[in-house]
Amino acid sequence: MDKLVIRGGNRLSGRVTASGSKNSSLPVIAATLLVGEGRFTLHRIPDLQDIRTFTGLLDHLGTETSFSDNTLTVSAENVESILAPYELVKKMRASIYVLGPLLARFGEARVSLPGGCAFGPRPIDLHLMAMEKLGAEISIETGFIRAKAKKGKLQGGCIDFPISSVGATGNALMAAVLAEGTTTLVNAAAEPEIETLCRFLSAMGAHIEGTGTTELRIEGVDRLRAVEFTNVFDRIEAGTLLAAAAITKGSITLDGVEPLQLRSVLKKFSLAGCDVTHSDQSVTLESPETLRATSVTAKPYPSFPTDMQAQWTALMTQAEGVSRITDKVYHERFNHIPELNRLGAHIDILKNQAVVHGPRKLSGTKVMSTDLRASACLVLAGLVADGVTEVLRVYHLDRGYEKIEEKLSGLGAEISREKYQEFI
Ligand code: UD1
Repeated sequence: MDKLVIRGGNRLSGRVTASGSKNSSLPVIAATLLVGEGRFTLHRIPDLQDIRTFTGLLDHLGTETSFSDNTLTVSAENVESILAPYELVKKMRASIYVLGPLLARFGEARVSLPGGCAFGPRPIDLHLMAMEKLGAEISIETGFIRAKAKKGKLQGGCIDFPISSVGATGNALMAAVLAEGTTTLVNAAAEPEIETLCRFLSAMGAHIEGTGTTELRIEGVDRLRAVEFTNVFDRIEAGTLLAAAAITKGSITLDGVEPLQLRSVLKKFSLAGCDVTHSDQSVTLESPETLRATSVTAKPYPSFPTDMQAQWTALMTQAEGVSRITDKVYHERFNHIPELNRLGAHIDILKNQAVVHGPRKLSGTKVMSTDLRASACLVLAGLVADGVTEVLRVYHLDRGYEKIEEKLSGLGAEISREKYQEFI
């Protein structure tokens, strides 16, 4: 297995460019399944394990993909299988994204129940509810979701989401674009990843109103076409890199971003005492000598993202005062706290809230990644800890951060990847 070995203490400085978003790449790639003719060319797709796992699943269904230099081409002309098997789906929960497009194009789909990141309960009931509202009959048999359009083709309908779900909104959108008639999505997720999917589907010929809002109206069309498309930047990677600068009392400029999409996170950096400025496509952050404790509550976009709260927790270990981290999306997403405390942080968990007492001197040791964002938080802590921090099970981090050690070393961090053997 791989581990990251970090010698903490270097202030980060310089320029770095954000990669393409993982979380928008996945539904965009899934949406190529909707088209039976032509070849898609998708730019700014990050070279990550999750992307390779997902294209592996599509290839299993019959697509032809090729991937190099962050450009993915996909032809879904020869897709015949509607069955997504357990062996591939278990590797990532986002595999559920094939359900909507398969059902829309072929009128049926069989998708194994997903696995994936292990924080808190992660149901898929809203995905299934959405497909039912569009006229699908759903049953769960031997670990598989079996979905069949009752009339042979999906029918438009009104889907009112009781809670905001990125994945279920994406799946509903991909199903509705080829359904007969009009579909309305109420309380839809408005995350930039969904906005990107709407832009992509519209470029393919879909009729969608309300892009970027929580109410979407989709007029089904008979067919869509393959197009060339450029993916959006990864706002979570961007926030993590800014946190790396802030935690090391550094100063960096991040290129290739849309600052508006980062506004809730940038606002918190400012409140914590960082000097944040931006132009059209870049953000510069200069960290103060002493950070101020700043509480955050993770909620759906445009609020502070749940995927940034673990990294924010690491940052707050270095801030003066007490800060509270609350997650209203995944209430139990605190696997990283015991590991941060092992590095010397003082964080209590009280009623689904992490209470961080700062500043604390951290000292390096071996720590274990438990999920994607938890690993990022441990890397941040390692950048400021005394001595050497070894972040084990880096495969979690590799699922979502492209060339992370290259990017951090380019900014002046002392970080390297090494092999190790884990004894279980
Ligand atoms: C996506 C992101 C993930 C991020 C999350 C929230 C991808 C690949 N992953 O995950 O990184 O943390 O959005 O921004 O894009 N829920 C249900 N029933 C469902 C579906 C969701 O109750 O059928 C609940 C979840 O348990 C959670 C909330 O809805 O409490 C939001 O989850 P959701 O937005 O669906 O997350 P994902 O799309 O899985």
